[in-house]
Amino acid sequence: MPTKSPAMSSKRKRTKKSERKKGGKMPIAATVDRHDLYQRAVQCVESEIDFVDETYEQIRGKKAAFLREDFAGTANTACEWIGRRKTNTAVAVDLDLPTLDWGRENNIGKLDEEAQQRIELKNENVLTVKTDKPDIVLAMNFSYFIFEQRDLLRSYFKAIHKTLADDGVFFLDCYGGYESFKVMKEDREVSDEITYVWEQADYNPIDGHMVCHISFKFSDGSKMRRAFTYEWRLWTLPEIQELLNEAGFSKVTIYWEGTDEDTDEGDGEFEPATKADPDPAWVAYIAAEK
Ligand SMILES: C[S@@+](CC[C@H](N)C(=O)[O-])C[C@H]1O[C@@H](n2cnc3c(N)ncnc32)[C@H](O)[C@@H]1O
Repeated sequence: MPTKSPAMSSKRKRTKKSERKKGGKMPIAATVDRHDLYQRAVQCVESEIDFVDETYEQIRGKKAAFLREDFAGTANTACEWIGRRKTNTAVAVDLDLPTLDWGRENNIGKLDEEAQQRIELKNENVLTVKTDKPDIVLAMNFSYFIFEQRDLLRSYFKAIHKTLADDGVFFLDCYGGYESFKVMKEDREVSDEITYVWEQADYNPIDGHMVCHISFKFSDGSKMRRAFTYEWRLWTLPEIQELLNEAGFSKVTIYWEGTDEDTDEGDGEFEPATKADPDPAWVAYIAAEK
């Protein structure tokens, strides 16, 4: 199961009458916000931007300044970028206006006025949006899996290749491992109060189509079921590398996570690799150089 996981359906979750607690106290599920839960349970924008910032510098020998976040959702990652340096600018692109609006209020609204001028939100399709030439484009949390046909995914990659600055780098992530093909449900504790539930509800081995859900459980027994649903193709790393090359990228590097010897879990350090162990579940980063 991916340690972090995907996006958002636009239906706001309502708490059923039957979930309301007797005695007037609201169940936790009725008092929390699904975007806030997503950001806390799924994203770690600090380590993501650490990786992207350092890796761009290693590849190009200079710092990047202009970042485009595709499938930006609440633009949390773009806001982290803006906070790193006064010279940083960002554009965040997403199709879902209510999600962007949530990010405008809760993430961009928390930046100071000067920083707010350095980020732009675009309510558009990543396949057709026009932006200035970014040093970095991000497509994180496997969001590009939504493009289920080879031609469509290649045309997205081609559009990114075209829009990037001449020395631009496209960063994506990917998950896999033999457990990723299984229908399963797994819990992970986020805090004493919140448990994140990742559900692989359906997988079709004939076309690779997959249905996944994110739910949340709370310490008082209340639940937010299927707060986010994803329907996508479970792409594999060889396929993604082939398509990035076909789209014109000059070099594609896979960054594989190291293993903590004490826990036998991922150690959060991602290094270039061409050979890796067939782990049951893994998340990797990809850097595609223009
Ligand atoms: C998994 S969320 C991404 C959240 C965030 N980027 C992250 O790293 O966790 C996927 C987002 O992609 C958006 N989306 C899906 N198809 C899109 C498209 N063709 N163009 C722009 N946004 C799209 C959805 O509205 C949703 O907000």
